[in-house]
Formats: sequence, structure tokens, C-alpha cells
Amino acid sequence: MFSLAWAVCLSFVVCFAVCFAWQTFCNLPPAWLKQLHSLGRPRKHMLSGTAVVCGGSIAGIVAARICADHFERVIIIDPEIRDSEKPKTRILQYNAGHILLYLFVEGARKLWPNFDVEMKAAGGRFGPADTQIHYSGIPLLTPYNKYPSGQFPDTLIIRRSICQKVLHRLLMQHPTSSKIIMLAGTVRGVRASQDSTSVDSVTVRELDGSHSSLQDVALVVDCTGMTQAGSKWLSTSGFELPEMIRSRYHGNISYMTLCFNVSPDLAAKLPIPAAQRKTMLVYGYVPHDEAQSSTLALIMTDNNTIQLMFADTAHRDLPRTAAEVLPFITAFQSFKTPIPSWVIEVIELLCEYGNPSFDPVKISTQSFVQYHTLPKGTLPSNFIALGDASLQLNPVHAQGFSKAIMNGIALNSLLHAVKSASLPDDFSTRYFKNSAETMEALWNATRLHDYGSPSCEPMDGETKDTGRLVRWFESKLVSAATKDEEVASALWHVRHMLAADKALLAPTVLWKILWTPSLF
Ligand SMILES: Cc1cc2nc3c(=O)[nH]c(=O)nc-3n(C[C@H](O)[C@H](O)[C@H](O)COP(=O)(O)OP(=O)(O)OC[C@H]3O[C@@H](n4cnc5c(N)ncnc54)[C@H](O)[C@@H]3O)c2cc1C
Ligand SMILES: *[C@@H]1O[C@H](CO)[C@@H](O)[C@H](O)[C@H]1NC(C)=O
Ligand SMILES: *[C@@H]1O[C@H](CO)[C@@H](O)[C@H](O)[C@H]1NC(C)=O
Ligand SMILES: *[C@@H]1O[C@H](CO)[C@@H](O)[C@H](O)[C@H]1NC(C)=O
Repeated sequence: MFSLAWAVCLSFVVCFAVCFAWQTFCNLPPAWLKQLHSLGRPRKHMLSGTAVVCGGSIAGIVAARICADHFERVIIIDPEIRDSEKPKTRILQYNAGHILLYLFVEGARKLWPNFDVEMKAAGGRFGPADTQIHYSGIPLLTPYNKYPSGQFPDTLIIRRSICQKVLHRLLMQHPTSSKIIMLAGTVRGVRASQDSTSVDSVTVRELDGSHSSLQDVALVVDCTGMTQAGSKWLSTSGFELPEMIRSRYHGNISYMTLCFNVSPDLAAKLPIPAAQRKTMLVYGYVPHDEAQSSTLALIMTDNNTIQLMFADTAHRDLPRTAAEVLPFITAFQSFKTPIPSWVIEVIELLCEYGNPSFDPVKISTQSFVQYHTLPKGTLPSNFIALGDASLQLNPVHAQGFSKAIMNGIALNSLLHAVKSASLPDDFSTRYFKNSAETMEALWNATRLHDYGSPSCEPMDGETKDTGRLVRWFESKLVSAATKDEEVASALWHVRHMLAADKALLAPTVLWKILWTPSLF
């Protein structure tokens, strides 16, 4: 009898200790948050040579700014870099609705202490990072209670085109800009060093058609976005990359962004509640069944503009005229709770008086160049890729800018760890390995979600059944996040890239998710 009581008691203690350790492990702050503090801090003795940044968009600007803290010289190459005020023609999503997560904003603040001032001067607004997501009409809880009053993470609300112009200006105004050369041209390839362990020059086609070859290359950073050109450069210069290095599936997502001009008079007439005039989104609608409805987001952007964005995965014809907008929304069929009438009224007024422009974008493929899977010694020691050039996700989760900053944080941290005057032999391998788990987790979560959507064609070797368990878990998770603050907080932190996925597996969160019957 005595020993049985002890045995029971002991098992409780062991069980409790395991749960406690597991809970602690799941809630550890992720590496990128721990490394954020050193972003923007220059090293004492610069690394010799030139960092060559290929691509001058979001990832390129971030990479160039970071490299200027570490290298003697930086060259940033992009065919459209010369006149930063001119609209970009090579970025498909230049006019698409974008929302910027707090992680991007916080990282940018470290890189540019005057980030807020300049963005505000350009008309940008800062507001709580509250996405107002309604899952089939039911709101997800937002974890305001996790933060002291007034300290909930904020974010920047601005059109992408304006944001990009200001970032370019910030790069050029920063004290480190004296080290940065902008070269208008297209990177055509790289040349391997004699022993084939690194890249020793980069070939550029300049705007007048002439070719030049950049020497003294210390680091090559591929920031070419969706083109993911780096793997081609490496293959053609003798580095043997397997065919399978680039995984991809066809999400077949259609996007439409309407941009309204809203005079102060019209703005005053819109029946938007005071609270939602401040939040990141005015209203966000995500269908539980994408066969029945599209995703919708309404955002009050900069300078008296409002954007209405649709993302669709079921081959619907997205509205192309103001008259088509309301009938399109009222045909939605997956409501658990209907879209509130004030949202419909706002959209109606905007369509009538807001003179919308329409920007359609079709994103057929999602792709991940899995450099981290290559055996040591395959990659040149001084080649890395940052932003969409390595991982390009379904944009509906708004992770692109933050993912670029995440890669930047990892790069900066690894560069700070280099104590010699040049990069070590395993620099590239370590760069990709250090972020492998995080990038894979983003790829896995978004990909497996997308396999549940009507127009998606899975990757080679996978079927639409792949990831069923993940989608089952997701529907319970979202259901629990409409009711329980702790689950909602874990989900919010993961979606805003402020926690790793494992936060959802902490015992106190997990049991509630598993216990909650799915609403959908
Ligand atoms: C419809 C849509 C909506 C999105 N919404 C959001 C959102 O809400 N929030 C968010 O954070 N992200 C969003 N994203 C993702 C975000 O736009 C991307 O993650 C981001 O643009 C990636 O930046 P990047 O610099 O890696 O690539 P890009 O912005 O694509 O830039 C690539 C650059 O490389 C240059 N380039 C290409 N080839 C060469 C070469 N050979 N030599 C020199 N230069 C070259 C191009 O000219 C271009 O300037 C969205 C994406 C899409 C498609
Ligand atoms: C936005 O407004 C600011 C002032 O608030 C102004 O300086 C800027 O030029 C405007 N930008 C655009 C694109 O209208
Ligand atoms: C992602 O999924 C693959 C299988 O498709 C698996 O091998 C890998 O461990 C997963 N990675 C993460 C970080 O979840
Ligand atoms: C996805 O798009 C491709 C072309 O971009 C098309 O061939 C294919 O049929 C589409 N798949 C589905 C399931 O709609």
C-alpha cells in the first residue's frame, strides 16, 4: 500500500517535471529575437573586400545596410536602382496590398534610428499590430492583455511602393552610405575561384549593354527575389547543385488589390469604428473553406488611401470594376458569422466615391531553394541568399518583409562572430544551417495549409492528402483561438514571427487546442 502511494506520487512528480521542462522549452525566445539587439551595430575592424548585393529591393536594401556594418565596401546591383522614385517594373507585387509585421518594423528601427520619422513624413501610420482577422466571420482574439497598457507591438501601415522608396532613401542617407556603391545593371553570373571553393568575381550587364566583372569579392548576397537567380549562377559556374535543390508547388493564387483615394470628407463619412481606424487592418476575413469564399482585407493606408485586397485560390474571377465588388463579396458562402454591415457599407461608399485602381497579380508557384540540405563543401564559402531569393511563400500570411529581416538578423549575427579579417570556409554552410529549421517550418506550415485549397498542385512526391493532420490541427487551433486567450496569444505570436511554432505545443496550450472541437 505504502509503496503504491509512493509510486503514484513519484509518477506525478516526474510527469509534472517533464511537462514543466517541455513548457519552458516551448516558450524559449527564438534565436532571431535574441540576436535582434546587435542589428545595426558596426564591427570595429572591417572585413576586407567587397560585399556584392545582387538585387536592390527589400532584401537587397536590408543586406546592403548590414554589410556596410561589416565590410570595407558594398556594391548593390539592380537594373532599377538609379531612380528610386520611379515605380519599379520588375517587382510583380509592387502595387499589391502589403501589411508589415512588427518584426520587420523593429528590425528596420535598429538599422535606421530615424525609420519612424521618415516613414511618418512620407504619410505612413503606426498602429497596433492587430490584424482584425475574422475566421469565416468569427474574430480571433488579439493578445492585448499580454502587454502592459499601450505597449502592444505596433507596426507601420503604408503602401509598399511608398515604403520601398523611403527604405531606399534611408539606405542612402545613413552614415554608412559612403561605402555603398549603387550599380544599375543585371547580375549575369559568378566565377568560381581557382580551387572552386568560393566565388571570386561577379559579372554584371550594365544598362548600356556592356558587361563588367566585379573583383575583390568577399561575399555575394543573392537578393533577386522570386527569380531566385543564385542557384542558376552557381550551376553554370561549375558548382554542382542537384536538380532537387529547388522545391516548388503551384499554389495558383490570384490577388487583386483595389486602391481608393479617400478625401477627408469621404473618410469622415465612412462608418469605421474609432478602434479600427487605428489598427493594422480595418477588417480581415479568412474563409474556413476556400472553395466557398476568398480572403479579404481592408486597410487604411498612407496619404488618404484605402486598400481592399482579395486573395483567391479557387479560380474565381476577381472584381475588375467598382460595380463588381459588392456582388462578389455578397456571393461569399462560407460564413459562420456574416461580414458586419458596417464593413459592407464602407466598401459600398468607397466603390461609389473612391475611384479605385485595380492591380491584379497571379502567383502560380511557391518555391524554396533548399541550400541548407547541401553537403558541406558544395556551396562556395562566400555565397548566401536572402529574402525571396531563397524562400518565397504564399504571401497571404504577410511574412515576406519580416522573413527578409530575419535572414538579415542571422547574417549580422554570424558576421559578428567572425573574428578574422576574412570569412571562414564554412560561412555559407553555417548561414543556411543556422536558419534551416525556421525556414523549413515556414515552408512546411504554409505549404501544408495550401494543399487544402482548391487550386493547389502539390510538390513532386506529395499529394493533396499530405499534411491532413496539420490541417486538422490548424482548424482546432483557430477554433480555440476564437475563445481562449492563451491559445490566441500563442497563435498571434507565431503568426507575427515573434515565437517559434513550438509555442503551440506547450502543454498548457496544446491540451486546450486538442480539447476544443473544431468550429469549421
Ligand atoms: C501579391 C503579394 C502580396 C504580398 N503581401 C505581403 C505583405 O502583406 N507583407 C509582406 O511582408 N510581404 C508580402 N509579400 C511578399 C513580399 O512582397 C516579398 O517577400 C518581398 O518583396 C521580397 O523582397 P525581395 O527583396 O526578396 O524580392 P523582390 O522585392 O521581389 O525584389 C527582387 C529584386 O531583385 C532584382 N533582380 C532580379 N534579378 C536580378 C539580377 N539578375 N540582377 C540584379 N537584380 C536583380 C529585381 O529587379 C528586384 O528589384 C507579398 C507578395 C506578393 C506577391
Ligand atoms: C503623403 O503625405 C506626405 C505629408 O503627410 C507628403 O509629404 C507626401 O508627399 C505624400 N506622398 C504621396 C505619395 O502622396
Ligand atoms: C518539414 O517537413 C519535412 C518533411 O516534408 C520534414 O522532414 C522536416 O523535418 C520539417 N521541418 C520542420 C522544421 O518542421
Ligand atoms: C495551376 O496553374 C497552372 C498554370 O499556371 C495550370 O496549368 C494548372 O491547371 C493549375 N492547377 C489547378 C489545380 O488549378
